[in-house]
Amino acid sequence: MNNIYLVGFMGTGKSSVGRFLAEQTGRKFIDLDDLIEIKEKRKISDIFAKDSEAYFRKVEKQALIEVSVKQEIIVACGGGIVIDPENIKVMKKTGKIICLTAKPEVILKRTKGYSHRPLLKVDDSKKQIEFLLKKRVALYALADISIDTSELTLQEVAEEVLKFVK
Ligand code: S3P
Repeated sequence: MNNIYLVGFMGTGKSSVGRFLAEQTGRKFIDLDDLIEIKEKRKISDIFAKDSEAYFRKVEKQALIEVSVKQEIIVACGGGIVIDPENIKVMKKTGKIICLTAKPEVILKRTKGYSHRPLLKVDDSKKQIEFLLKKRVALYALADISIDTSELTLQEVAEEVLKFVK
């Protein structure tokens, strides 16, 4: 418990910030997407393609429950973790939820050129980013704090997080 959950849209820096914070604080870091790939022995894009997003959400929920019982860890969650209200409850009960945000154009720049995100494998990824952001904005707002990473360095984001959790 007393965990730090990094949530937010794809490309907002959750994994990089989580790793950096773990180095700075000595806390253990878990990337939930990596854990899911280890448990499923396949890539997230394969899970979406062969078993659908709904199946992925089930595995994601289970993985979150498993890590939530650990102590003082930093967890980088997948961008869709906030869709299930029970996930929010689990995170609130066992730690603080930090939402990383970024401007749509920054998200587009950061995610362009990477093909591992099934939800962004569409013809018009800019439109898709704007569509999903709109759909999720109220859910990301349930976090304890939000940090806009668009113009910040890793160090600056980490400092903002630590100001809040210390
Ligand atoms: C998703 C985000 C991805 C991954 C999956 C679904 C989403 O994680 O969990 O592709 O629904 O936003 P990242 O946010 O780490 O890219």
